[in-house]
Amino acid sequence: MEKGHLAEINACAIDEIDEEDVLRFDHNGRTYVIIRMMGDDIYCMDGQCSHEQVHLCDGLVMDHVIECPKHNGRFDVRTGKALAAPVYEHLKTYPVQVREGRVFVTLEN
Ligand code: FES
Repeated sequence: MEKGHLAEINACAIDEIDEEDVLRFDHNGRTYVIIRMMGDDIYCMDGQCSHEQVHLCDGLVMDHVIECPKHNGRFDVRTGKALAAPVYEHLKTYPVQVREGRVFVTLEN
């Protein structure tokens, strides 16, 4: 598929992620996180902190916020908005759909 083309990717089973937890998902050389709040409330965003290149999959998830494990920078998982110092640069979020127990994310291929 051409670069820059949007594609829906079958990322994982919903059961692979506990509630209020996060899963790392790599695709085409990029890292994302898939975040599950309660039930089917699922989000996908860039997988590395915008402060330093730290994996957010090791972070804490609570109340639609993910906290970076290194310096406790926080992002809103719904919008990617940077919420607390030392992070100022927002992260990108990606559309998610849950169908038949699977999580599909729409990414640039
Ligand atoms: S690396 Fe995430 S807050 Fe510093």
